[in-house]
Amino acid sequence: MSSAPSLIKSALIDSAKDAVKRFVTANQVVGLGSGSTMTILVRELANLPYKRSVEFVTTSLQIKIEAEKVGLKIADEGSFVDIDVVFDGADQIDSDFNMIKGGGGALLREKVLISAANKVVILADDTKFVKRLTQPVPIEIHKFARSFLLKRLKEIGGSPKLRTIDKGYPYVTENGNIVLDTSFNSIGNVRDKEIELKSIPGVLEIGFFTKANIYYKAKNDGSFEIIQPNR
Ligand code: A5P
Repeated sequence: MSSAPSLIKSALIDSAKDAVKRFVTANQVVGLGSGSTMTILVRELANLPYKRSVEFVTTSLQIKIEAEKVGLKIADEGSFVDIDVVFDGADQIDSDFNMIKGGGGALLREKVLISAANKVVILADDTKFVKRLTQPVPIEIHKFARSFLLKRLKEIGGSPKLRTIDKGYPYVTENGNIVLDTSFNSIGNVRDKEIELKSIPGVLEIGFFTKANIYYKAKNDGSFEIIQPNR
């Protein structure tokens, strides 16, 4: 017997319903981020009467499988040029709407899709909205540079930790790379930090993301808020 969803989960479901109704029209190219929030959104996309006219670009095998299960039309990998709208989740969102993403390891593809998109819509529960970004930031790196980058990131004030899975095996991204989850005492300007980190050879992508167009904040009383920051 399945139990009723929690209030926050039902607020996320309602956010996803609203976002799909508002932002997806026939014949669009739509980007899908990865993670549990995107799974909720994909289930709402399944109910769109014109869903077969929409082409979906996925950022991981996880969300691709969810999209396949509900019969969405998935674009060939690497074939997209422009994306009409991308939906995504987030790990943390600060008061200036900068984000940390990449908890699921899909940061590189999510970053590409977001930068190709005309509109970016983020859905998250209110626990993820914080004053300042405090979580370790995922940094996807080439494994050839592992030891060098562990040292270099420490030299610039970071505390990098190799992401591992069960039994201590290194986590490998779908791009064949590894991830250093890196804490910083002080991040300062997020965009500047992103540029500084990205300029180090061997660093492939950073889990810092800047402002999206629309944020859905799902609350624990079951309601949701739509935030459209000034850009
Ligand atoms: C995937 O790598 C991430 O960027 C996700 O968007 C983020 O981790 C949020 O995931 P959940 O929706 O599962 O919280």
